[in-house]
Amino acid sequence: MGCQYFDPCENGADTFTIAIPKVTFGRGCLHEAGARASGLGMTRVAVFTDPFLRDSAYVATVLDSLKQAGLDVALFDEITIEADDASVARGADFIATGDFDGVVSVGGGSVMDTAKAAMVYGLYPTGDFLDYFAPPLGAGKAIPGRLLPHLACPTTSGTGSECTSLSVLRINDLSTKFVLGNPLLLPQEALIDPVCCATLPAMVVASTSFDLLCHALECYTARAYTRWDKVDDPRKRPLIQGANPWSDLAARKALEIVGEYMDRGVNNADDHQARDQLMWGASLAGMAFGNTGTHLGHALSYGVTHLMHDVTTEGYAVKSPFVPHGISVVVSAPAIFRYTAEAAPERHFEAAGYLQADLQGAGSADSGEALAKRIIELMQKTGVPNGLNGVGFGAADVPALAASTARQVRAIANSPRETNLVDIENIYASAMSY
Ligand SMILES: [Fe+2]
Repeated sequence: MGCQYFDPCENGADTFTIAIPKVTFGRGCLHEAGARASGLGMTRVAVFTDPFLRDSAYVATVLDSLKQAGLDVALFDEITIEADDASVARGADFIATGDFDGVVSVGGGSVMDTAKAAMVYGLYPTGDFLDYFAPPLGAGKAIPGRLLPHLACPTTSGTGSECTSLSVLRINDLSTKFVLGNPLLLPQEALIDPVCCATLPAMVVASTSFDLLCHALECYTARAYTRWDKVDDPRKRPLIQGANPWSDLAARKALEIVGEYMDRGVNNADDHQARDQLMWGASLAGMAFGNTGTHLGHALSYGVTHLMHDVTTEGYAVKSPFVPHGISVVVSAPAIFRYTAEAAPERHFEAAGYLQADLQGAGSADSGEALAKRIIELMQKTGVPNGLNGVGFGAADVPALAASTARQVRAIANSPRETNLVDIENIYASAMSY
């Protein structure tokens, strides 16, 4: 399999683990919700969605299907557009008092991530919300037992949360996002129905597509799993385990899909082929990064989310300050891949090719620039903000952005190139505009 990138290292891991749910993909598959939930043993179901989707045809389809299968259903929709600890606390109360034996989530990443965490805190309450988060932020406490069976139904094509063991949550007191990761959070099944993407505004498709692009690209260029330390206890093998032969497969295909279909899918809502493919690409990228971890793209996005002020984004009916996740990631991406390319030039060159970058006359030494140029080209074609200036930041913000990002310790260490605080400052400084 051309495994040079995964050549053994002294004391390095020689094993990797892959976890993905049972996946059903195709137009109209939401109608299978009742049969799928019954198959998972559910009889009384907590349906998680958000206030914007509550009255949508997608939620109606799922509710009808569950009821036709004879299931007892209760709806929870008190979820903010970015999943946060307050939404999780409300969801946890709902789980704790509802006598449920299963969860169905219908929505974007925020809905699925809230559903996952609500089960953790509803079933296993703890005094401090951060107890189940990894150190140094959290106490690293083990989740004491299994969660309820979870059928995840994504309605956007970005996060891939239906295929991951992760829940990305904003901690309001700290004004930033952190990742709760645990194999117990992996949904048992996913119903991925691309019909849900047909009516999304262009900017939403642009943001979610850049999220999927960066998931795939960060996986493909991540530090190899063999360069992480071996673990003595297989149960402690981290979810952020580095690039591996499995994630290569899924990430490569996801990058090819973005390269071929992103411009079409964003700019033409009637292009069902393109939007369907982007939905499939998002799930593939989720299957990849859920078993790899992201690196600098996502780590630097959390600084943006933490410190954004007086900024809104067209296509989103959300009050300021708000930068959608995919845009918070991509604004720094060209600068990041210019920086990381020297540590894994072949990988960056291959990734640029999958994204349909113009590689005529280029060699692997040019891979960072080729990749950056292709990402910038896609940003321009889809009209997203041009770098950090476009989302309200200037040079004076760099030290604070870097200090905030430095807390994402494991993701930074998953970069192929060793990266310190000054490096992060330099990347931010060169990501102002392109
Ligand atoms: Fe993401």
